[in-house]
Amino acid sequence: MTPAGDVSSGGARTEVKVWADALQLFRAAADEFTRAAREAIAARGRFCVALAGGTTPRGAYALLAEDDARRPAQCLPWDKVHFFFGDERRVPPSNPDSNYRMAREALFARIAVPEANIHRIEAELEPKEAADQYQELLQTFFALGPGELPRFDLVLLGMGPDGHTASLFPGTQALDETSRLVVANWVERLRTFRITLTFPVLNHAAEVLFLVSGADKAEMLRNVLQGDSSGAVYPAQRVRPDAGRLLWYADGAAAARLADPVG
Ligand code: 6PG
Repeated sequence: MTPAGDVSSGGARTEVKVWADALQLFRAAADEFTRAAREAIAARGRFCVALAGGTTPRGAYALLAEDDARRPAQCLPWDKVHFFFGDERRVPPSNPDSNYRMAREALFARIAVPEANIHRIEAELEPKEAADQYQELLQTFFALGPGELPRFDLVLLGMGPDGHTASLFPGTQALDETSRLVVANWVERLRTFRITLTFPVLNHAAEVLFLVSGADKAEMLRNVLQGDSSGAVYPAQRVRPDAGRLLWYADGAAAARLADPVG
């Protein structure tokens, strides 16, 4: 399994890798997760990862669980892995739209991770309360002082056809948040609140890995990585880790327009 091509974009630390299809993309994502986990555990004794929601990452989460079952001798020490979420829909954990439920079905239920290591967003609470509660959880877990930011070892993100990432949607208030770690973001297009980590937190990560799959993302991926003539800045473009690595993994369908001249 080799990447179909490398496209450098937007500065030295942005790497874009294109994989032939979604399965190879998931495989590469699972391998990068495992590599980053081993590195963090060796260096700091634990691995703190913020998971992406939506549909794309499910395949990578499932491969991590399969690896665990197929190669138990090489499995990750899940007691040293702490799972957080980049965002959550305003639904209870049992709801099919829940990002937590997706991660539980694809991964948590199939590996020996302690429940105490799974830090979900309690999105069934009132939106502001859910955001405050998760912010406090992060401040306590990372032992943050006033104004300090948590540094995730890895943040997994997806991207919508409109250029949103986590629940940072175009034209929403959360885009301008500069101090809070977590906010309840009203998304007019969806007529709902979403609970989401903010740009300061995403950009403080040691590594951010975007997973982008499917033809419906091709135009926006080209815009985000190569800019577009409208000069619009899409939320996904504002994820630029201050002192970290930025990786974009895309499958061929999502990367199909990367060679196109900026439209
Ligand atoms: C969510 C996600 C969101 C997602 C994109 C892409 O809760 O929906 O966090 O940001 O990553 O919408 O979603 P797909 O992977 O389903 O295309």
